[in-house]
Amino acid sequence: MTARRTPPKSFHVKSFGCQMNVYDGERMAEMLAGQGMTQAGADSADIVVLNTCHIREKAAEKVYSDIGRLARREGGPRPMIAVAGCVAQAEGGEIVRRAPQVDIVVGPQAYHRLPAMVAQAADGRRALDTDMPADSKFDALPGRGRQSRPTAFLTVQEGCDKFCTYCVVPYTRGAEISRPWAAIVDEAKALVDGGAREISLLGQNVNAWAGADETGRVQGLDGLIRALDRLPGLQRIRYTTSHPNDMTQGLIDAHADVPKLMPFLHLPVQSGSDRILKAMNRSHDTASYLAVIARVRAARPDIAVSGDFIVGFPGETDADFEATLDLVRATGYAQAYSFKYSPRAGTPAATMTDQIAPDLMDERLQRLQALINEQQQAFNHATVGRRTDILLERTGKLPGQLIGKSPWLQSVHVIDPSAAIGDLVEVEIVQAGPNSLTGRLSQPLARLRERDRLA
Ligand code: 5AD
Ligand code: SF4
Repeated sequence: MTARRTPPKSFHVKSFGCQMNVYDGERMAEMLAGQGMTQAGADSADIVVLNTCHIREKAAEKVYSDIGRLARREGGPRPMIAVAGCVAQAEGGEIVRRAPQVDIVVGPQAYHRLPAMVAQAADGRRALDTDMPADSKFDALPGRGRQSRPTAFLTVQEGCDKFCTYCVVPYTRGAEISRPWAAIVDEAKALVDGGAREISLLGQNVNAWAGADETGRVQGLDGLIRALDRLPGLQRIRYTTSHPNDMTQGLIDAHADVPKLMPFLHLPVQSGSDRILKAMNRSHDTASYLAVIARVRAARPDIAVSGDFIVGFPGETDADFEATLDLVRATGYAQAYSFKYSPRAGTPAATMTDQIAPDLMDERLQRLQALINEQQQAFNHATVGRRTDILLERTGKLPGQLIGKSPWLQSVHVIDPSAAIGDLVEVEIVQAGPNSLTGRLSQPLARLRERDRLA
């Protein structure tokens, strides 16, 4: 029991980790706003929600330093502190013991109950809910309203049944579930009505999504993408994250013939060594991964391929690591993420013998990242001189500068007074840097398309 307090009037949600957390953070924010609270900064909000990530130790530890900082916040009463997300799910009891300043602990499948938990905490009772209820939180959340950006996330699938031996996700996010077709289509329509022009379909294994359409026919992710392609007002569709084993021919074909589906594929592989992939329980090998990439490229030759890698998995030898570099060379990535292996309590890999020394992991990570950066730069440079459309998403640092994304998910900077956020514009790429491109506007595409539609 802690002291009673005035119910919070303002909130701040801070999300760490993956895009699914960003989506959950947005939905929590919408729910709190629906309770009449206003959005505020972390330094002044009455309630701060830390929407945490548990994937690697470093990410998980951040929460405790943030809690300490919030508890010591100066200028006014300390905020109500809520810990949400995957650390809440995995370490709920420990947070309650270790951090008495925390008022609310809520897992990723229970956050629709946040308003009731806020009321309980205001009443002086700490609230903990890490249930994975059978009823879907999605049904209990308020509908989507006006969007602050033209790009929106939409979670269609959650959880994972793959049980890679290093990964906490099957434990923190639970078993694979697919949201129903109608709920997704309705949410997509609401997002478009609210101003979204691009929708990224999200799931830990998004390409494992399956469900019955309005006629009762069972569809895969490609069917859903084709349905969303027909939504007027929506201009772009993306999806992430995919598993190599769930890349169906239907989804690959969609890359060839669905106009709004962007030519980008994030397909984690983790290692280029078949021995390590086996120890990781990845259920694919390098040959099957490369075969999938080849089929996707046959359907959509310009597709930008992205990936995830782990270096220093227990038992990884120099030869295993060299095989990873070979796989990167064979694939040719437009971008990729790479991480040092982080042992996570409760996962099979955490108790494997022959854990790799930190220095060796550092060295391998640096070599891998140097190769990936080289490929990313080459990919970016290859777009110089090309014309492409970009969807303007936000303002840049320079006066009048706007930043948008190319179809291949590169950031493109433009300065042009005729352009506005939300416009899909045609640019010529005039310069490539390591992380972004510079474009010159040629035609305001959105307006051209509007004219074409009216003609
Ligand atoms: N250690 C390091 N990286 C990890 N990932 C998942 N679990 C771990 C871990 N224990 C990486 C994988 C995954 C990405 C989201 O995070 O590459 O694809
Ligand atoms: Fe984790 Fe593997 Fe599932 Fe991806 S597929 S979420 S890495 S268990």
